[in-house]
Amino acid sequence: MATEDQKRWDEKHAGKRGDQPSSSFLVEILSSASWQIAPGRALDVATGRGRNACFLAERGFSVDAMDISEVALQEARKTAQARGLPINFIQAELEQAALPGAAYDLIINFNFLERSLIPKMKNALKLGGHVIFETYLVDQRVLGHPRNAAFLLGHNELLELFRDFRVLYYREGKFVEQGNAAYRAGLFARKVR
Ligand SMILES: C[S@@+](CC[C@H](N)C(=O)[O-])C[C@H]1O[C@@H](n2cnc3c(N)ncnc32)[C@H](O)[C@@H]1O
Repeated sequence: MATEDQKRWDEKHAGKRGDQPSSSFLVEILSSASWQIAPGRALDVATGRGRNACFLAERGFSVDAMDISEVALQEARKTAQARGLPINFIQAELEQAALPGAAYDLIINFNFLERSLIPKMKNALKLGGHVIFETYLVDQRVLGHPRNAAFLLGHNELLELFRDFRVLYYREGKFVEQGNAAYRAGLFARKVR
């Protein structure tokens, strides 16, 4: 049976159709000659309509993509099918979901913040695996959605959350994505122990 959270997210996703551009932060990191991340097994946390999962699958990753919203996942499945991408979409409430240990080469998390999930994400990464994480900063409140402090990162918070990883790239500030400016923090880091 659908939880209140699932219903709320299903309503938010209802009526939203079509392909969305992948995150420019993700594209920048995976296209950079500096790191050359080899394809492997990847997890997209809170995939939404799957824009980033599709990007990873196109780059040769074998992708699991989780989201609470069946409505979002239906759209994601259509997009992946149209593009011939064999993504494993999983409907799950991430706080309750068990993630396999040391299973993934890459975990991505975009526009979603559930701090309690971070230890599980770390455990699900292989040693030497990478995380790419980008979401809104506390400064975003002056620009608009989201405003709830629970879903906004403090300054340097993302760095602190991954201080046991080797941070390869980090940025904070106001960035334009698809023509919209937003305050975000972005991190790319490697599990080293
Ligand atoms: C703002 S959207 C971001 C989607 C995607 N990561 C992107 O950047 O396009 C946040 C997503 O988190 C999902 N979500 C919210 N709470 C969740 C939960 N507890 N478990 C799993 N997914 C959740 C929503 O359904 C929604 O698709």
